[in-house]
Amino acid sequence: MTQDRQVAVVTGAAQGFGQAISIGLAKRGIDVVAVDLSDCTETLTQVQALGVRGVGIVADVSDPGVSERIEKLLNDEFGRCDILVNNAGIFPTKSITELDYALWQKVHRINLDSQFLMVKGVLPFMTKSGYGRIVNLTSNSLGLTATGLSHYMSSKAGVIGFTRGLATDLAEFGITVNAVGPTASLTAGGKSHIDIKLIEEVAKMQAIKRPGTSEDIVGTVMFLSSEQCAWVTGQTIMADGGLVRL
Ligand SMILES: NC(=O)c1ccc[n+]([C@@H]2O[C@H](COP(=O)([O-])OP(=O)(O)OC[C@H]3O[C@@H](n4cnc5c(N)ncnc54)[C@H](O)[C@@H]3O)[C@@H](O)[C@H]2O)c1
Repeated sequence: MTQDRQVAVVTGAAQGFGQAISIGLAKRGIDVVAVDLSDCTETLTQVQALGVRGVGIVADVSDPGVSERIEKLLNDEFGRCDILVNNAGIFPTKSITELDYALWQKVHRINLDSQFLMVKGVLPFMTKSGYGRIVNLTSNSLGLTATGLSHYMSSKAGVIGFTRGLATDLAEFGITVNAVGPTASLTAGGKSHIDIKLIEEVAKMQAIKRPGTSEDIVGTVMFLSSEQCAWVTGQTIMADGGLVRL
């Protein structure tokens, strides 16, 4: 028997945006499957405290075997999947003069290929039920002149292209697909991988002049992953304090 409560899969859920999104979904009464390379205990504890189920899976979202693992977990534990948030990503800064092919490929595998692999894992449930919401994380850096990000920007531009194509293919199944682009933010990863001075400089260019936090992305993802988001698909929303205008 299929359970009544909705189920969401969130990648990169151990910290940062992924953790805040998982908690936001749990507050809406949605069960959460937290996927990450790292242990998600901290996220799961907060999710479970909100009265829903939280299940973790330690997995590399760029590993081709991840699709099958996610499908099996969903089948064994829930029998359904309503929401996928493709949030996991890395953002190493490297000028093109120092960038090697290995890092180029790694960034594309984790930031872009993973989104394809995760979609493959959840799709059987969404096409069967005739309902789904897919939200892919891109970045507002695509509209900026930040240096050392050619590999990152290429992968995040790919996310927007993937989102547009997928939205068309999946419309007939009642599935909407959208992307959300944060600004340079004080997430766990942002604090350790982005120069704080750069985050402050970017904040000064935003309409809302303070650095973004993990929580600032949640409202947009909540809308894009909700039943209300039935007529919006293939779109990218920059949730970035009003910096980049599409
Ligand atoms: N923080 C920012 O300034 C910023 C700005 C724009 C876009 N983004 C995007 O938002 C997303 C989340 O960023 P964040 O700041 O929360 O990052 P973060 O580093 O705080 O968290 C990312 C999480 O993803 C996990 N992860 C990384 N590689 C993985 C893999 N191969 N398999 C499974 N899990 C993996 C990490 O373990 C980590 O828990 C990323 O896609 C990032 O590109 C971030």
